[in-house]
Amino acid sequence: MSVSRRQFFAGSAAAAASAGMLSACGRDQDAPPGVPSNSDPDNQPLQKAVVEFDGPHQAGIATATQADLNLAGFNLKDGVDKASINRLMRLWTEDARELAAGRTPLGSLEPEMNVWPANLTFTLGLGERVFDIAAPNKKPDWLHDIPAMTRDELDPAWGQTDIALQICADDPVMCAWALRHMTRAGADYVETAWIQQGFMNAYGAIPTGQTPRNLFGQVDGTVNPYEEDEYAKQVWREDGSTSLVIRRIAMHLDEWEMLDRASREEAVGRKLADGAPLTGGDEFTEPDFEAIDGYGLPVIDRNSHMARSRPPADHPEQRFKRRPYNYNLPPVPGSGELSNAGLIFIAFQKDPDVQFTPVLQRLDEADRLNEWITHIGSAVYWVPPGTDPGQGESDTYWGESVLA
Ligand code: HEM
Repeated sequence: MSVSRRQFFAGSAAAAASAGMLSACGRDQDAPPGVPSNSDPDNQPLQKAVVEFDGPHQAGIATATQADLNLAGFNLKDGVDKASINRLMRLWTEDARELAAGRTPLGSLEPEMNVWPANLTFTLGLGERVFDIAAPNKKPDWLHDIPAMTRDELDPAWGQTDIALQICADDPVMCAWALRHMTRAGADYVETAWIQQGFMNAYGAIPTGQTPRNLFGQVDGTVNPYEEDEYAKQVWREDGSTSLVIRRIAMHLDEWEMLDRASREEAVGRKLADGAPLTGGDEFTEPDFEAIDGYGLPVIDRNSHMARSRPPADHPEQRFKRRPYNYNLPPVPGSGELSNAGLIFIAFQKDPDVQFTPVLQRLDEADRLNEWITHIGSAVYWVPPGTDPGQGESDTYWGESVLA
């Protein structure tokens, strides 16, 4: 690429602001993760921050990462049929649309809880069983479990569900409130299988242009689609839909912290201070995988996380949008560990079989990070296209084009 990512952001943010595109949003839908559009004075304070609910794609995918995540896995109750699934989708879409706009949905008696959505987004995914019940002939080929990896230690408690609802906001109270509302609104149709709560750097807590960090202290999310054409290539299918892969990955902080700083950096191939590749430059400088050090060894280890996860030259399609969140729970009593933390690894791509799984396989074979992480949960969903509030060309409720 001839311009650096940073130059591109600066240019596109300025252009968008001058075109008035950012005025209603706290964060530009197309801004890179962790880059609040707070250079636009109209976006302050956070109470005014609204992310558009309707559009060709669901929000919460290209949206810059908000601070809080409530990711819920729901299963359909016995006897819920195609007609009921459609009713639930209509009901949930209408309520999510209201909440995201700071309005009060039907059945909510607390309007004062809804007025400051703080960049609230909802992203819905449907699992295989929803297709089996409502649209068996329309099930995408790739909608199946991610193949078992040799190092997996998957716990069914974090496994596949019929529906996933990713709720994100820059305010933890709003985020929890929105999940509570949706859970109550859907109670006749679904029950909660799991809730995965996560967090990332809060709005304004890191400087504009910086990528958030995970609990290994690493800048996480640098290499991602940012531009429209990258999203078109990697994420959006023709109808505006995409796929969602969720991997819950434990990060063994106690063991990781036994490493010195240089070894931590070698494991990924990037510097801890600013996420720059070990071959120099800044976070967005292209790494030089051919560079050799004074001992004749590669500066970036061939089995570093970055080297293993990068698509090989003959498979450029192995790219996707990563939108990870940290989790941090109390240590398990009796485990002797001081921590129970990790990553809720969320990936969006057109086709997991083609884009995601080959990367996962390469990492499973030989990623230096493997010594300090364990995959404990896995699930895959179809993410319906975005919605239209009126009777436009797109769906007026989630999944309508496939489920109705
Ligand atoms: C706890 C587990 C993981 C941690 C701590 C982690 C951390 C990181 C870090 C620090 C980077 C470098 C900065 C960046 O580009 O974001 C990175 C890059 C990347 N990771 Fe991970 N990651 C984890 C799991 C995974 C998994 C499961 C996958 C996919 C199957 C994955 C795919 C990637 C990709 C595609 C890149 C960009 C590679 C490139 O430079 O082209 N990561 N990860």
